[in-house]
Amino acid sequence: MGPHINIIWHHTAVTKDDRRKLNHHKSAVLWFTGLSGAGKSTIANAVEKCLYEKGLRTYLLDGDNIRHGINQDLGFSPGDRKENIRRIGEISKLFVDAGMIVITAFISPFREDRKMARSLLEGEEFIEVYIKCSLDECKKRDPKGLYKKAKAGEIPGFTGISSPYEEPKQPEIIIESDKQSITESVDQVINYLVEKGYIP
Ligand code: PPS
Repeated sequence: MGPHINIIWHHTAVTKDDRRKLNHHKSAVLWFTGLSGAGKSTIANAVEKCLYEKGLRTYLLDGDNIRHGINQDLGFSPGDRKENIRRIGEISKLFVDAGMIVITAFISPFREDRKMARSLLEGEEFIEVYIKCSLDECKKRDPKGLYKKAKAGEIPGFTGISSPYEEPKQPEIIIESDKQSITESVDQVINYLVEKGYIP
């Protein structure tokens, strides 16, 4: 669905580039994807803290929190997950336009939905970060007890158990959270941003 036929895009007097200059860094979205329990939220929070301490403008969009607010009408059917990701993609785009470094932490299990989110942003503005962790390790961690419930048939369509997770084929960054520490993971993301010239 596109916008209503009588809706016309307005250009703003202050542009994205103006806002980026004010911030002294580029804006982009670090799109974290991975299984429940892989460590998306933990690593995303640690990355945001590090960027904030460097004096950079950030905003973290986290799955559980967004589902309490703007996306509280959505469940976990493939169609609802698609709409969840579409809205997050659009919100990310606004924050990138505002000149911020956005970090999103959603399972975003479907390749096609991540591709759609990527397509909403300009070329280098979308950085896909795969938080890779074996399903066995996620089940072992089970921080919210959801795998146990899913296995008992209490959560229909649970990612990794009764709903698929499609691994990214060419993510910009892969973090192996079952092999590396949080500090190593944060350094990896920060180094990427510095090397590619996003941040000073
Ligand atoms: S998605 O697939 O991107 O739309 O999911 P997301 O918005 O990231 O929400 C995932 C969190 O919701 C909880 N939860 C479920 N996850 C997967 N499948 C089902 N059926 C489900 N039901 C509830 C779960 O706590 C996820 O949080 P994380 O932080 O990933 O563990």
